Amino acid sequence: MTQSALGRHGRWMSAIATLERQSAAATAIDARTLAGAGLAAALRDSRRQTLARVDDLSAAQWSPTEQIGINPIAWELAHIAWFAEFWILRGPHHRDTAGYAQAWHPPQFAGPDTLFDSARLPHAQRWLQVMPTPAELGDILQRQLEACIEVIPPVESAFTGAGTPDDPLYFHRLALFHEDMHGEAFCWMRAALGYPAPKGVAVPTVGDRTLLALSAADMRMGYDTTEPGFAFDNECPARTVHLQSFAIDSAPVSAGDFALFVDAGGFDTPQYWPSEAGRWRAQSTCAHPQRWRRSARGTWEMRWFDQWLSLPPDAPAMHLNAFEAQAYCLWAGRRLPSAAEWEHAAHTQAGFAWGHSVWEWTADAFVPYPGFTPGPYSEYSLPWFGDHRELRGGAFATHTRMHNPCYRNFFQPHRSDVFAGFRTVAV
Ligand SMILES: [Fe+2]
Repeated sequence: MTQSALGRHGRWMSAIATLERQSAAATAIDARTLAGAGLAAALRDSRRQTLARVDDLSAAQWSPTEQIGINPIAWELAHIAWFAEFWILRGPHHRDTAGYAQAWHPPQFAGPDTLFDSARLPHAQRWLQVMPTPAELGDILQRQLEACIEVIPPVESAFTGAGTPDDPLYFHRLALFHEDMHGEAFCWMRAALGYPAPKGVAVPTVGDRTLLALSAADMRMGYDTTEPGFAFDNECPARTVHLQSFAIDSAPVSAGDFALFVDAGGFDTPQYWPSEAGRWRAQSTCAHPQRWRRSARGTWEMRWFDQWLSLPPDAPAMHLNAFEAQAYCLWAGRRLPSAAEWEHAAHTQAGFAWGHSVWEWTADAFVPYPGFTPGPYSEYSLPWFGDHRELRGGAFATHTRMHNPCYRNFFQPHRSDVFAGFRTVAV
């Protein structure tokens, strides 16, 4: 058996085992309000997931050739440590004249900023830098995590009035969710590179779709800052939105249902691919989802990490871009939900299944809510408004801590490397 790039370092294996024990008690309940020992356990749990998603890779898998949308693994691990240290331990912060975040204290564990701040070092440059070795990374990550946990403020000092950076726990929670996001990104990376699925990751399923009818209503959209806990900047400020009545699927569209559209020639019917979608379709090479292929018997197969599987009809349709989701809707006489409709259904409908299969494309561009103010980590949302599309929910690879009806994910509409699908609304 090939020895993994990290497995040969006993320190990593014992670190994972220790984190597994320490995080066993961590739960996803009220992740936005985690404090004290619960927050420490969640940080250890997130770290355990990070390490577990790369620790079995061979030395060759550890160093893939450069690919768009993927970071070098060593860079991404060091960046995770840098991010937590920068925001939790090195404040106060300010913006320099070039707009970059600067911290008062120098790095002790992961640095320099010019190398590990994603805002400072473009993707292509990350492949050209000399990175810490796996053994060095193990040290950096362990020392950074312990130092960050050591300074978690006592529970009673947590500010419980609003999800704002005034909360003394703001940066711990930000670093926690940031690491959870990178844990999911390691999963996309493995799928894109054709590596085996990480331990514990299985093909998700979706239940039968029924239509849930919702009456016209005024709904509260976004994270209300009168509530305690952490909010991402793009979730604020909350506001009241009036919705007309609508009927929305109880679950995302399945692969079996999406195959009906493909088999009906949907990819080659121009009316389903208007404007921007048509421009994407004109330069795409296959008349089916990019991670599907025909078997010798003429049936569909789906790429799942390092395998080709006979298309599981009850899996969610996934690795779809926003144009493919929209084309299916036009063929089926449906439409994509607005983000407000999705959020309202998630808040109010017990039968609305979400969060465990795929991220769901919505009809909305990712734009700031009226009155938006960037958070201290302003690179999180601000640079991506306008040309990205909003997704809601969560995928099988997303930690349940990330699940929140208010949470707004966002990607460029042509991306299909992420675990994205969709659900429909009756027209
Ligand atoms: Fe990051």
